[in-house]
Amino acid sequence: MLELHGLHRRFGDVVALDGVDLTVEAGELCGFLGPNGAGKTTAMRCAVGVTEADAGRVTIGGRAVDLEARRRTGYMPEERGLYPRMRVHEQLVYLARLHAMSAADATASADAWIQRLGLADRRDDPVEELSLGNQQRVQLAAALVHDPTLLVLDEPFSGLDPIAVDVMSDVLRERADAGVAVVFSSHQLDLVEDLCRTVAVIAAGRVVLRGDVRALKRASDRRLRLEIDGDDAWLATLPPGVTLAGRRGEELQLVLAPEADAGAVIDAARGAGPLLGVRLEEPKLSELFREAVNGGDA
Ligand SMILES: Nc1ncnc2c1ncn2[C@@H]1O[C@H](COP(=O)(O)OP(=O)(O)OP(=O)(O)O)[C@@H](O)[C@H]1O
Ligand SMILES: [Mg+2]
Repeated sequence: MLELHGLHRRFGDVVALDGVDLTVEAGELCGFLGPNGAGKTTAMRCAVGVTEADAGRVTIGGRAVDLEARRRTGYMPEERGLYPRMRVHEQLVYLARLHAMSAADATASADAWIQRLGLADRRDDPVEELSLGNQQRVQLAAALVHDPTLLVLDEPFSGLDPIAVDVMSDVLRERADAGVAVVFSSHQLDLVEDLCRTVAVIAAGRVVLRGDVRALKRASDRRLRLEIDGDDAWLATLPPGVTLAGRRGEELQLVLAPEADAGAVIDAARGAGPLLGVRLEEPKLSELFREAVNGGDA
């Protein structure tokens, strides 16, 4: 659906994008992660044509981005972009019309999103009179009102209360389930881990990690915590890919490479004495993120 091919972008001496390749498929809900200044906003701006890349190409469905493709794209800019004095409904209708919706469809769609996002009692208030979180709901409605097939959202969750986070999450999931390609940036890794099947991590203008979160986890080291009532002799014969990382009190902490057999390690430990505790943990997304970002710097 959305394809970024080798995007480069500099601002003076600063290299913001250093060859970004990224594809987001229809029906995908992709979390776009990266430290401050990594290039997320710049990449998203290039994707929607707000900024031009110095080199590289953006295509949608394999074709250069034309007016029709732009009309089918919904974008939530980092700096937000509503008209503060315009009333909520009026503004959404205006934005939908800019994307070539008919007056009747625009009115109906604006009302539907106002309802869906819990803004019914603010329908005819100027945007500037709304709280920050409610302005953000309007901003989401503005990205959605023209029924886009591609959604590019720059930190849609920042500043939202937990209820609004739930609403935003539900809407994004629902849009992806309806076949929309959704990519959004965020620093809230736990939230992204719950919401997204796929992620892309960018660091210093390059994509350093990309893929299905479950598959990425399966392909990385796991941690096995064991408590046994026995001596340490068995540790001398750990199978390949298993290392002792440390101990906390009675608990042994082992690191298992992706191919290592956790069951075999647990069986060996049981041979040494009764097992008092066992816990096998995959890395959290935040750990994969740190590893990818630090590795990218090296
Ligand atoms: N208009 C600009 N003029 C000069 N430098 C810029 C401009 N826009 C971005 N940059 C620089 O490009 C780099 C990437 O910035 P970008 O805003 O894309 O990062 P980001 O990943 O969105 O960060 P954050 O998480 O803080 O939003 C940074 O070094 C930034 O200072
Ligand atoms: Mg940004």
